Order: sequence, then C-alpha cells, then structure tokens
Amino acid sequence: MVEARGVWKRMRNGSTTVEILKGIDLLVPRGQFVAIMGSSGSGKSTLLGLLAGLDSPSEGQVLVDGVDISHMAEDRLAQVRGQRIGFVFQSYQLIPTLTAFENVLLPFELNARGDGKARARALLESVGLGSRLHHYPVQLSGGEQQRVALARAFVLEPPIVLADEPTGNLDTANGQHVLELLTTRQREAGTTLVMVTHDPQIAARADRRIILRDGMIVKDEMVHGTAAEGTDSEGIAWLPIGLGNASDDAHPDAGSR
Ligand SMILES: Nc1ncnc2c1ncn2[C@@H]1O[C@H](COP(=O)(O)OP(=O)(O)O)[C@@H](O)[C@H]1O
Ligand SMILES: [Mg+2]
Repeated sequence: MVEARGVWKRMRNGSTTVEILKGIDLLVPRGQFVAIMGSSGSGKSTLLGLLAGLDSPSEGQVLVDGVDISHMAEDRLAQVRGQRIGFVFQSYQLIPTLTAFENVLLPFELNARGDGKARARALLESVGLGSRLHHYPVQLSGGEQQRVALARAFVLEPPIVLADEPTGNLDTANGQHVLELLTTRQREAGTTLVMVTHDPQIAARADRRIILRDGMIVKDEMVHGTAAEGTDSEGIAWLPIGLGNASDDAHPDAGSR
C-alpha cells in the first residue's frame, strides 16, 4: 500500500517558487496496478519520486505500508526503500562498471541481505538473460538493459514496484516484453504496481487510471471492460482530458480512498 495525503511539491526557481504538485491525495491498495498518465511536465515523475521516498514533499505526507516516510532520516528511509520498493526508470539507470549480474546483486549487498547470487541468477534467467549474466550494460540492447533493471527491482521481492515510463525508450516488441514481466509479477506476487505511461494500451490493462494535469489529479477511475471482456479497443478509446470529467461520479470506487 502506498499513499499520498495532501502532498504539495514546491521548487524554487531563481526568485520564484514553482508549484509542481498541488495537493495530491492518492491511496493505492496492495496488489493494485495503477497507470499514471498526463502530458509532459504535469508532475508524474515528481509524484513517483515522492512515493518512492527519492524526494520529500514540501507539504503533506507519503505513507508506505502505513509508515510515514515524508520526513524520515536518510538511513532509515534507505532501509524502507530497500525492503519495500522496487523502482524502474525510463533510462534503466544501470551502473555501467558492473555486469548485469553484479547490477542485480547490488541491492542485496547494499541491504546486507547476505548471499543473493542464486536469486540474482534465477531472476536474470526468468527475464530471458541467462546468457548475458556477465555482460556490461554497454554490451546490452535497451530492452536487455531494462530487463536487467527489472531483475534488480525485483531482487529483494519488494511489495511495491514503481515504474516511470519503463517502456518509453523501447520499441514495441521490447516494450511488450518488459510490460509482460511487470504485470506478471504484479499478478503472481501480488505486487502493487504504479506505472507512469503515455501508452493508452498499457493504461487499458491497469486496474485503475489516474491523469495528472498541472500537478493535480484531474481524473481517477477504475478501468472497465479490459481484456476480460475482449473490448480492448473500447477500453483504449477513453475521452480526452477535460471531456470525461462528467462521468467521474459514475465510478464510486474510484477517487481518493
Ligand atoms: N528540480 C526542479 N526544479 C524546478 N522545476 C522542476 C524540477 N523538477 C521538475 N520541475 C518541473 O516540474 C514540472 C513537473 O516535472 P515532472 O514531474 O518531471 O513531469 P512529468 O514527469 O509529468 O513530465 C515540470 O514543469 C518541470 O519542469
Ligand atoms: Mg517524467
């Protein structure tokens, strides 16, 4: 479970203060797959960073499994992050001087979890990289690098995975593979998955869709009629921002909970 309560993020920019997030209220229950959408600059990455404890809010609270992380000391925060959150970046963010295997092993070492070698190997095999263990990031394709990043995000078995446009730099086939790995993990391990995406087809597969605009949530709805009803094309054809708000009341299970 991850929650934002009245979260504001302000940033000084020279003599002015920019408001990047303006009062975000959001509760993501355990096991839910949420897609966060919105145009560039709407605050998606800032929000995800706050939920991960990579940054702290100017006002309000962020709770991870009920624990307020908004003003936690860095060492304790690092511990919570390590134990509870896997983060996937659009640009992979692998350590260039470490092999795929060493990158996946790193969270074990940073969290003093003992010997994770067998688990790191098994995870890399499960993402189709059993033959690339000792390759460096520069020797891997974008799709392969992102799969290493997924293995790294999963290695400590975090209950929450946050992904910021994880398929944004990938072609369709590689993007599909990465998406399958994330959603399979969400289903099978019951992982809470919050994913920023521009892709309406991905969003149509989520349980819930949230749209940010100018630092505010302008739409928060459960996704209906997806794969189960075989109406994917319908599911994708949702209304553009600004036209669909009138129907929000029709979804009593959406909105801030
Ligand atoms: N460190 C910063 N200082 C000032 N403004 C920032 C900073 N980081 C992000 N912003 C601004 O905040 C807004 C939201 O950024 P971001 O969260 O990256 O949006 P998104 O991920 O939706 O594209 C943008 O207008 C961006 O320029
Ligand atoms: Mg972003």
